[in-house]
Amino acid sequence: MSSSPTSHYSGMSSVTVWFIMFLLGPVQAQLGTTPNIKHIVVGRCYNYITLYPNMRLDCEDIWRQFEESVVRQSSFNETVDYHQMFSAINQTWPSDGFLFWSKTRRLVESYTSIGRDFWTLADTLVGYLFTGLVWCGREDKSGFNFKSCPTWAEIKHHPVYSLWRQASLNFAEMARGNITVLLNGSIRNAFNRESMFGSFELDALDPCRAESVNIKVVTDLDGPFIESCNQGSVVDLIQILRSRGFHWTCTDNDESLMILQCIQNPKQSSCQKCANSFSLRRSLKMN
Ligand SMILES: *[C@@H]1O[C@H](CO)[C@@H](O)[C@H](O)[C@H]1NC(C)=O
Ligand SMILES: *[C@@H]1O[C@H](CO)[C@@H](O)[C@H](O)[C@H]1NC(C)=O
Ligand SMILES: *[C@@H]1O[C@H](CO)[C@@H](O)[C@H](O)[C@H]1NC(C)=O
Ligand SMILES: *[C@@H]1O[C@H](CO)[C@@H](O)[C@H](O)[C@H]1NC(C)=O
Repeated sequence: MSSSPTSHYSGMSSVTVWFIMFLLGPVQAQLGTTPNIKHIVVGRCYNYITLYPNMRLDCEDIWRQFEESVVRQSSFNETVDYHQMFSAINQTWPSDGFLFWSKTRRLVESYTSIGRDFWTLADTLVGYLFTGLVWCGREDKSGFNFKSCPTWAEIKHHPVYSLWRQASLNFAEMARGNITVLLNGSIRNAFNRESMFGSFELDALDPCRAESVNIKVVTDLDGPFIESCNQGSVVDLIQILRSRGFHWTCTDNDESLMILQCIQNPKQSSCQKCANSFSLRRSLKMN
């Protein structure tokens, strides 16, 4: 199931690549469409209904719309237009807890899995259905190509990329309440204008829907400590939020995130300090 993905991704901006690799999950060994993709997608769709029983979904119809879009535009010279599939999905959205992130993948995975009420793209139906899958159409428009698909670097309008781009735009447009943005303070350009977040999610956020945009800058516990709320590109992000009329906050070294990092990697020297100075149960708010 897994092989080194690096060779397929050279050529795109690394932040975008990280984002997509997170959504892809374990990259498939074969280069064509994921085998049994229909059964996987339809199965996940029914599973999603059991998770969110209030959503009324026609799983077969969603699949049909998806298949038609991919097969229709299989020459890769234009973006696949998934809007029919998106309109077949009546996604219900939470009123709070939207989480955006950049270059903090591992942390996001555990942050959202400890029972906190965060909502990422991977929790939406489209995120849930297509995470880890690869697809492309056959050039003769007769169906999916299970033998080979182009790599990200080879073509401008990859059908997988087009879907995630549309999905994350929709996600950002719907974001409301308190919005969390998790950025990596151990790298330069923690806020990168070329990342998914910086290049279109941010622009799609609506200051009238958002109660507050809460930035959390997280560094690796043992450093390097490169950016923070008042240093580096994070300052630019705050400037943009301010000019667009968002309420915002910015936190360096969020306590519960630091504890989470220690849980992931207890041997780090700064985790000895963590153990002494933090009350684990209080900060994680677990019951
Ligand atoms: C893409 O290719 C299809 C068929 O090969 C053609 O009909 C269409 O006009 C092309 N679109 C562009 C923008 O080149
Ligand atoms: C979408 O779902 C909501 C409830 O979840 C329902 O009230 C509404 O009518 C649905 N809209 C469509 C277009 O199906
Ligand atoms: C920050 O980015 C670096 C380099 O990509 C990575 O090794 C590190 O795990 C990231 N830190 C966090 C807190 O996500
Ligand atoms: C946003 O956070 C503030 C402060 O924690 C809280 O009072 C408010 O109810 C939150 N908003 C929503 C929509 O949950």
